[in-house]
Amino acid sequence: MKTYDIAAIGGDGIGPEVIEAGIEVLQALAKADGGLGFRFERFPWSSQLYLDEGHYIPPGGLERLRTFDAIFFGAVGSRKVPDHVSLWGLRLPICQGFDQYANVRPARVLPGVKSPLANGKDIDWVVIRENSEGEYAGMGGRSHRGLPIEVGTEVAVFTRAGVERIHRFAFELARKRARRHLTLVTKSNAQRFGMVMWDEIFLEVAKDYPDVEHDRELVDAMTTRMVLKPATIDVMVATNLHADILSDLAAALSGSLGIAPTANLNPERAFPSMFEPIHGSAFDIAGKGIANPVATFWTAAMMLEHLGEMVASTRLMKAVEKVTANGMHTPDLGGGATTAQVTGAVIAAL
Ligand code: IPM
Ligand code: MG
Repeated sequence: MKTYDIAAIGGDGIGPEVIEAGIEVLQALAKADGGLGFRFERFPWSSQLYLDEGHYIPPGGLERLRTFDAIFFGAVGSRKVPDHVSLWGLRLPICQGFDQYANVRPARVLPGVKSPLANGKDIDWVVIRENSEGEYAGMGGRSHRGLPIEVGTEVAVFTRAGVERIHRFAFELARKRARRHLTLVTKSNAQRFGMVMWDEIFLEVAKDYPDVEHDRELVDAMTTRMVLKPATIDVMVATNLHADILSDLAAALSGSLGIAPTANLNPERAFPSMFEPIHGSAFDIAGKGIANPVATFWTAAMMLEHLGEMVASTRLMKAVEKVTANGMHTPDLGGGATTAQVTGAVIAAL
């Protein structure tokens, strides 16, 4: 029997609720499978810990995390801590510290879910987000604070190594899909240094993938294409910030932010990868037991895929789709079901 060590970080808001639901479902899957096991260790790293002890990640925390096969992450963000402090305190140190440079965000309208688009059934996309540099590199500064001459800079950083590896990853992923099509998202008309390099390197890498069709779209035009011509898109690769924005749009067009999953991958497997629902901490509904656990279940399926457990991954997704098709929906999808009811239904389907 293969047993995986998974670090579970519920974090803030609805994070712990959906991660516990995910653990329940994964344990049920293991039981149904027989050849598969999970050992979960829970880490209470959260904004509450920060308020109590002054840190999200305790000293030595990353070194401990490094020994796990994967990280199952809920959300970070609290009304009591400025967003840039919580983000740079927990999620980004893991993503950047473990060089999880490839962020994969699939979007698809699950059975029984209604897209706000008339042609929503055409959505079957993967957004690939550069996850280690770009606009999130953390470069910049402020000086002359409070004075009329105060200045703030936010520098987007693009390195040849960073750009090349994400484009290569995108081509590799596109190559494995039926349509084998990749769209380069850019803004090289207005931003003439990093973005032009981003495009140039894409075209260099493209030469190694003659079997993958590619095209190029400016990020603003990409939003309209996603809404008006969803069928023309398969895989897209975009910078850290552009893909952040496009993936929220992709999630909304697929029916709800409550179903969208993500994988923060270190493709070389030098470090563990991290799997999380996209939705965030949603403190307005935290503690009510109505958070949609589907994003976390889909995220768990991505984690299984990364671990090489393809059969278990497909089995989990089939169970989730059976439940969404039956109309058992949480309020974000217009239903009245609770987190526990959806979780129970998925376990029954397994
Ligand atoms: C995401 C989120 C984060 C991001 C937030 C929580 C800072 O929106 O994962 O898409 O912008 O990266
Ligand atoms: Mg986002």
